[in-house]
Amino acid sequence: MNVCVIGTGYVGLVTGVVFADLGNEVICVDNDEKKIETLKKGIPTIYEPGLEEMMHRNMQDGRLLFSDDISEGVRKSEVIFIAVGTPPRDNGETDLSYVEDVAREIAANIDRYKIIVNKSTVPAGTGDFVREIIEKNKKWNVDFDVVSNPEFLKEGSAINDTLYPERIVIGAPNQHVAMKLLELYAPLERPMLITDVASAEMIKYASNAFLATKISFINSIANICEKAGADITLVAKGMGYDSRIGSSFLQAGLGFGGSCFPKDSQSLVHTAKKFGEDFNILQEVIKENDRRVSRFIERIAERYDSMENKLFGILGLAFKPNTDDLRDAKSIEIINILLEKKAKVKVYDPVAMENAKKILQGVKYCKNPYEVAEGADGLIIITEWNEFKYLNLDKIKEVMKTPIIFDGRNIYDPNNLKRLGFRYISIGRKEI
Ligand code: UGA
Repeated sequence: MNVCVIGTGYVGLVTGVVFADLGNEVICVDNDEKKIETLKKGIPTIYEPGLEEMMHRNMQDGRLLFSDDISEGVRKSEVIFIAVGTPPRDNGETDLSYVEDVAREIAANIDRYKIIVNKSTVPAGTGDFVREIIEKNKKWNVDFDVVSNPEFLKEGSAINDTLYPERIVIGAPNQHVAMKLLELYAPLERPMLITDVASAEMIKYASNAFLATKISFINSIANICEKAGADITLVAKGMGYDSRIGSSFLQAGLGFGGSCFPKDSQSLVHTAKKFGEDFNILQEVIKENDRRVSRFIERIAERYDSMENKLFGILGLAFKPNTDDLRDAKSIEIINILLEKKAKVKVYDPVAMENAKKILQGVKYCKNPYEVAEGADGLIIITEWNEFKYLNLDKIKEVMKTPIIFDGRNIYDPNNLKRLGFRYISIGRKEI
């Protein structure tokens, strides 16, 4: 099939590359010329395990093209995916202006029947909005359909998630168009659900909001565990064995960040309000998440007479492991508070340092965790990268000024840390 993907961010680039790998002729379009130049050289513009290799293979075979010319992409393709950003406005509402711009460009170039697929995360009703814009502005009198096909991939495992999705949701206005999308996804041999357009749009938000709710729920339980002398990791394990609850997304920590959960939860609250509904549960989920960092900072501050001139080592900057993404990363929030309190900060992250340097000044960037720990009054773990789980803790203790670890992601066994002679403050567990 001839496919065009508009927008080469996380979702667009990974989708385009995987569709090419499934044997389709794919053209990925972006209006950012610099990005397209980089991609044309075979260099991925995001860090994602497995992406570069798959990109090269499909570029070499001639199935994957990059272009900054949207008209070329639209004219050459039967199926056009919209995968542009949908950032939040100040009031939490989703800003659809990029989606609108793309819809206008499609209208100017659509010259025969085509299927337009919304892959960007957009509120219920956006399918109709896109349809209206194209209908009103189309240059030629041609027919088209607008489909919603939300994306569920996670950063850090995006290729795998796209090749082996747990479900494929196709919100289609009629049977014919649904069949066409089924055909495109058939090689994956995964469960597919066909719905109307609005339901597919809602499935995406409801799923992200539910997962965010699980996280704030377990974090609230962790708050109680800290006072009750219980261990949140055991509590979550015990809960997770119940298949109705499930064990995933019950990891207590510093709360959810990244480019999706924070913005999508806000957006769903806003959509609910628009329809006259108060989504109280979700509002509390957001509030609990917003409190995570200040609670953690308070627990750090309790250990020192003053934070001024104390040296803190930070392990992990990315909003989660296996990505260099710093959007809504807890690290930035925590480091800025430490700097406000006039503490000194050294940092290390396996892949997010270059991105961090663009937005984070006044800290020392280190080559490895041991350099971060050297002379530190406290070590703070923010991202649960695997390499932090297997550090030589004897060596860390030796180089630190005061052997105290604040672990925002519960990566160590408290008894082990006690045995090694550390003070250890983690989430939802007794302080050691
Ligand atoms: C999330 C969803 O998991 C994807 O299904 C969805 O497609 C994507 O948003 C999106 O809408 O585009 P992502 O933001 O890449 O994916 O990352 P997650 O792995 O879901 O983690 C989100 C945040 O929750 C991270 O800050 C992570 O540290 C936190 N988290 C996750 C926890 O604090 N505890 C957990 O148990 C799980």
